[in-house]
Amino acid sequence: MEEVHRPQPQVIEEGILVEGEAIKKAPRITPVPTGVEGLDNLFYSTEIKDGQVVKKPLGGIPSLSVFNITGSSDTGKTLLVEQFTIKQASLGKRVAFITVETPATFVSLSLRERATAMGIEFSQIEDNIVLIDAASYSSLRENIPNLLATLAHVIKNYQVKFTIVDSVTGLYEHREMMARIVVRQLFNFMKKWYQTALFVSQKRSGHEELTAEAAGGYAVGHIVDGSMVLAKELIMSPYQAKTFGKAIGDIVRLFRIDGCRMSGHDTRTFYMEITDTGLVRITEPLLPLEKKKK
Ligand SMILES: Nc1ncnc2c1ncn2[C@@H]1O[C@H](COP(=O)(O)OP(=O)(O)OP(=O)(O)O)[C@@H](O)[C@H]1O
Ligand SMILES: [Mg+2]
Repeated sequence: MEEVHRPQPQVIEEGILVEGEAIKKAPRITPVPTGVEGLDNLFYSTEIKDGQVVKKPLGGIPSLSVFNITGSSDTGKTLLVEQFTIKQASLGKRVAFITVETPATFVSLSLRERATAMGIEFSQIEDNIVLIDAASYSSLRENIPNLLATLAHVIKNYQVKFTIVDSVTGLYEHREMMARIVVRQLFNFMKKWYQTALFVSQKRSGHEELTAEAAGGYAVGHIVDGSMVLAKELIMSPYQAKTFGKAIGDIVRLFRIDGCRMSGHDTRTFYMEITDTGLVRITEPLLPLEKKKK
């Protein structure tokens, strides 16, 4: 029988790093405030103080992390990433906002509304936000290499440090088997370009509400550094009414951080509100029934 010719396996020297060297090259992780009330202190760092390990609130999401913001329709995902955008822009940082579903002109109106609600003068910060309109241009939406080349161009020309994608789901509509590949490409790109990024992904209502599981169909949560899950419950049973201390027909909004590999975080489920002016805020944690009665 003819022998199959296989190249000799090679040692890839560049792929080997001694930890002592790797840590010297590692970027510094700093807190990035989100502009969402109640969120920044749900992340923490740990340090050793007098021989004890202590938790310290971080005051933001860890820089250079890529988060998946997931939930079904109307749960506040867009509001949350808009608030983040306004907050960073108000701190003088440049943000690239890739809009996949809503044309950029409409997003700009919404961003202006968010700024006003946050008490920030939009005209002072508007040039810190660069919109990439993948909703209007299928040559961006349906061609990931074009999208990433355009984003690289924007990052270089505007010194962008933050990237928002609303939503990644729109980039693999009708081809959900591509979800992981698309998200992996975007994730690797954000790491290469040192971006702190928020990827919105949509959950179908059939998916389990408060986990990132199956968000976007194919476990986007495994690829990114962390997930935030937003949920909306309609109170329809006396049991639910009792659990949440609400009336039948009320809506309860919930929020949780479903994992973050870049820092410690609160693992509880929280109540969330959307204010009259359209701002997301995280309020108190859900308490067990016995504690609530006290
Ligand atoms: N300007 C506003 N003022 C008050 N409430 C608002 C405002 N904008 C949005 N909302 C409320 O917040 C809800 C969530 O809006 P948002 O657009 O963030 O949802 P989403 O999770 O992005 O949904 P989708 O997956 O459909 O894009 C809306 O359904 C609405 O009830
Ligand atoms: Mg949205």
